[in-house]
Amino acid sequence: MAFIHLDIRCLYAILICTAFGSILSSHAEIKVNPPQDFEIVDPGYLGYLYLQWQPPLLPENCKECTVEYELKYQNIDSENWKTIITKNLHYQDGFDLNKVVEAKIRTLLQGECTNGLEVQSSWSEATFWISPQGNLETKIQDMNCIYDNWQYLFCSWKLGMGVNFDANYNLYYWYEGLDHALKCADYIKDNGKNIGCKFPYLESADYKGFYICVNGSSKSQLIRPSYFIFQLQNIVKPLPPDHLSIIVKNSEDVNLQWNVPEGPIPEKCFIYEIKFTEDDTTWVATTFENEMYVTRTSNESQQVCFIVRSKMNIYCSDDGIWSEWSNIQCWRGGIRKEVLYFFLIPFAFILFLVLLITCLLLYKQKVLLKMIFHRKQEVFSHQEALC
Ligand SMILES: *[C@@H]1O[C@H](CO)[C@@H](O)[C@H](O)[C@H]1NC(C)=O
Ligand SMILES: *[C@@H]1O[C@H](CO)[C@@H](O)[C@H](O)[C@H]1NC(C)=O
Repeated sequence: MAFIHLDIRCLYAILICTAFGSILSSHAEIKVNPPQDFEIVDPGYLGYLYLQWQPPLLPENCKECTVEYELKYQNIDSENWKTIITKNLHYQDGFDLNKVVEAKIRTLLQGECTNGLEVQSSWSEATFWISPQGNLETKIQDMNCIYDNWQYLFCSWKLGMGVNFDANYNLYYWYEGLDHALKCADYIKDNGKNIGCKFPYLESADYKGFYICVNGSSKSQLIRPSYFIFQLQNIVKPLPPDHLSIIVKNSEDVNLQWNVPEGPIPEKCFIYEIKFTEDDTTWVATTFENEMYVTRTSNESQQVCFIVRSKMNIYCSDDGIWSEWSNIQCWRGGIRKEVLYFFLIPFAFILFLVLLITCLLLYKQKVLLKMIFHRKQEVFSHQEALC
């Protein structure tokens, strides 16, 4: 019996060992390759790049497995890698072409052949950069783009420091929806050199990358191109609010109102900044509404003034540019007395005069009518007497 007991224990041990062994060995056997032909392709969209690859060669017994790809990419110098898990064989995103683009990809395999575990391949890497031409000094400087009232885009820049007299710059732009990059058609010029661009109407160009390249040419030197990416809704500069009004109630409560700036920007996209002045003190506040209630600190204050400016709020954009300040609107405490003295009293006097004259006239007319009536009656009675 003891022998048999021992045998059974041994048998169990052997069984467990072999089972584990087979799992371990089969696990160790599964090796998957990284995707093939991984490359970064520039379609000429000034920063919007295609990352593409081919499926890896898979072991025979893994045809039924799920194959996914883990893609990581970044512009060199940027803080962190972006990670994408996908089953597709391509991916697109915007990159800053002033810098080197780095990407890597690996295969993730999972299924029966891996005993349900996820098996990863090694990384396949690719880089992309536009080989820098020309001196760094030849780049344009201080590029500044503003989308006025969400309608008119214009960009301006300063000439590079180290450019020869014959050098000139050109601006190209692209966004998703255009077949190819377009060249600026309406330049702002200074001494014959392009220092800015007025864009035409841009159809459905918001909430996506807007890509710009400003490069240049000169017979005697190479000009370093500059690349820019932004989203149009983030550089909107609205019009200042107008039709400001101040209503003072119970000599303490002040209601400030203004009109939403006209144009395509929805009412819900605004934030306003108010600069409120009461005699010599000034404070600043922001609001999402186009009015504000304020309490005067003293009902002795002689003058209450405010100005307001507008910007796109966080519900419609990540950023924005403040509009210019509106015209100033003031309320003067003294105005009421002035109104009383210079307007109300003379008005009341004139009204009284007019009433008096009307009454007199009416009275006179009554007397006149009575006289006529009396005469008529007299004539009538005369006639009766004759008959
Ligand atoms: C400037 O960039 C555009 C768009 O990428 C390109 O077509 C053009 O050839 C470039 N010009 C120069 C002088 O590099
Ligand atoms: C405002 O003036 C009234 C009388 O003119 C006075 O009774 C009241 O206390 C004043 N309020 C403040 C906040 O000064």
